[in-house]
Amino acid sequence: MSFGDGIRVDKVIGTGAMAVLLRATLDATGETVAVKLLLPRHMSNPEVAERFVREGETMASFASPYLPKILSLGTTDSGQPYIVMELLKGADLEDVLRSPRRLSVREAVAYLRDACEGVAVAHDHGVVHRDIKPSNLFLAEEADGTERVKLLDFGIAKLSPGLARGKRTSTQLVLGTSQYMSPEQIQCSANVDVGADIWALGVVLFELMTKRVPFEAPTALATMQAILRERPPRISCAGELPPGLVAVIDRCLEKDTRDRFPSVRELSRALAPYAEREATGPVFAVAMKAARTRSSDAHRRVTPRDGTPVVAREDQRSTLRYGRRS
Ligand SMILES: Nc1ncnc2c1ncn2[C@@H]1O[C@H](COP(=O)(O)OP(=O)(O)O)[C@@H](O)[C@H]1O
Ligand SMILES: [Mg+2]
Repeated sequence: MSFGDGIRVDKVIGTGAMAVLLRATLDATGETVAVKLLLPRHMSNPEVAERFVREGETMASFASPYLPKILSLGTTDSGQPYIVMELLKGADLEDVLRSPRRLSVREAVAYLRDACEGVAVAHDHGVVHRDIKPSNLFLAEEADGTERVKLLDFGIAKLSPGLARGKRTSTQLVLGTSQYMSPEQIQCSANVDVGADIWALGVVLFELMTKRVPFEAPTALATMQAILRERPPRISCAGELPPGLVAVIDRCLEKDTRDRFPSVRELSRALAPYAEREATGPVFAVAMKAARTRSSDAHRRVTPRDGTPVVAREDQRSTLRYGRRS
């Protein structure tokens, strides 16, 4: 298999459900880049391949320091689409969460406000991300040494229903990652709007501060039922959180989208009082260490005595794609 544009692959830096992330060098400039390549097993499904190409086009239309810069889109000689983007230095927030160190409130809030900036760019373009979670948020070290969280993976992003009226959508699809899915996304992925991203940002903030997601059950189905039916746990048990901040999270996790923040910018404004940055060095060192020890047990399964396979907790952090189209 070969890439166009004088791209020389150096090594694999990660594999997701849809794609493999490669580190590569551009012959023309010597620049080191990241290449996201659709896994060959998805090539037989034209809809998945089409969605992947759309992901690249969507991301290429954005220009923001809060999103990775897309350099080019291409197709290998064997027909696999790929996205060439800037290689980010650092670790995603999933890795940051795996480290034993607790984040301070100010760090967690600062990361979330960065995430809000990236999401706001998408929303300004009428795009709902639909899969905001720690592994799709990357704590990147910029060339000037500052750190910034960038939003990745528009793999299941979609035009906001408000802007895409008249387009054919199906109601038979569950798309997203169970623990981060809003009630309305569980009920009907096709019609989710910005409120679903605000819900997921609330889940991420809850998790950054407590190292737990608000809704968690042994199976993805049970988790989704809890999201639909139960109130989020009282976060006060996690310790010394400012009550105003708890109220911000609670508002993100309102079952009815109309009771949530109307926009990510409003959410970010509500977080501002808690976001004063501290020195960044130590956090970054922890994040890097966590990245190196990233475990590969994400797809571990447990089998109870009756032999019925049950998806283990970790699996619920992978993006689900049930159903036909959206
Ligand atoms: N530009 C990049 N630079 C460095 N690492 C990246 C980059 N893009 C993605 N990654 C890493 O690869 C992982 C998978 O990428 P992602 O776009 O989320 O693919 P998938 O659709 O398979 O989840 C991310 O969680 C992140 O850790
Ligand atoms: Mg991802």
